[in-house]
Amino acid sequence: MTDLTDRLAAGEELFDDEWRFLIEGYYDKQLLFYRADEVRRRYYETDVYIRGLIEISNYCRNDCLYCGIRRSNADVSRYRLAEEEIFACCKQGYELGFRTFVLQGGEDAYHTTERVAELVSAIKEKYPDCAVTLSLGERPRRDYEIWYQAGADRYLLRHETASRSHYEKLHPPEQSHQRRMECLRDLKQIGYQTGAGFMVGSPFQKTEELITDMRFLQEVQPHMVGIGPFIPHHDTPFAGEPAGSLERTLTMVALTRLTLPKALIPATTALGTIHPQGRELGLKAGANVVMPNLSPMAVRGQYSLYDNKACTGQEAAEGLAALKESVALAGYRVVESRGDAV
Ligand code: 5AD
Repeated sequence: MTDLTDRLAAGEELFDDEWRFLIEGYYDKQLLFYRADEVRRRYYETDVYIRGLIEISNYCRNDCLYCGIRRSNADVSRYRLAEEEIFACCKQGYELGFRTFVLQGGEDAYHTTERVAELVSAIKEKYPDCAVTLSLGERPRRDYEIWYQAGADRYLLRHETASRSHYEKLHPPEQSHQRRMECLRDLKQIGYQTGAGFMVGSPFQKTEELITDMRFLQEVQPHMVGIGPFIPHHDTPFAGEPAGSLERTLTMVALTRLTLPKALIPATTALGTIHPQGRELGLKAGANVVMPNLSPMAVRGQYSLYDNKACTGQEAAEGLAALKESVALAGYRVVESRGDAV
């Protein structure tokens, strides 16, 4: 096992059986997490970066089968934050110590090229020492370029699964795997610090698909990788499917850290949702970012990607003091800086 982890951290490619062993083999996973933690400390020591997550709209034109805010879910009450509300979130976040704001939303036609560009430049003007991350889905390359010129620093667009046939089982026919890949390539070319990512334990996912995800990461070398367990949402076609497991998710976080030693890897909200210690365990398995929720209290419940999504306590920006404590107890330190990739 340690031979395999050394080879991974050295950037080597592994054979299928080697990946298979690392992902599903019966060996001491604590050892894997320990190796991943060693590699994370090499570049980031014990630093944990914080991002203030602002969920700007839950309108979405897409119909991803796993997602609670998919367009055919008529039972979500839809909202869209006004510009002033977004600024108020940033103000509160800045005072709390956040130096990255993540504007995330469904694919909402209201968010025209110009509106988002103006939003980004207004935030960058008010807070020149902060990074702005966008997470607004698939857009024409031109939009990505204009937003980059407006000052956006980073973009998150999870690939969800690197296997085309698997992608097609998780999305309706009008959403294409190829288009997703083109967007990621565009974002990276334009100069964004680019985030990919995938769910662990999504329906139809087998070890083979996870191997494809790992090889995809090796090839594309994203700056950020978001990994969380799939969690069913009661109003989706996958309502009755089991959630992804804690152990498998931590394993994928650790393997991602070994594959991409310099990556920014969040201990995701989904990980914190399936287990009370999920976030800390994620950090100990190689994650180095946490993204507390800065959205206005009144709308937090409506950004319901999956059931029981945590949005209070330490998942909330107001819980930052408690979060700092539990991060410290886990052996790390919350750092109030932009936290760019090294
Ligand atoms: N379970 C876990 N993660 C989900 N996402 C969407 N729906 C679910 C779900 N049911 C994730 C997707 C998306 C991100 C914003 O949330 O990976 O990219």
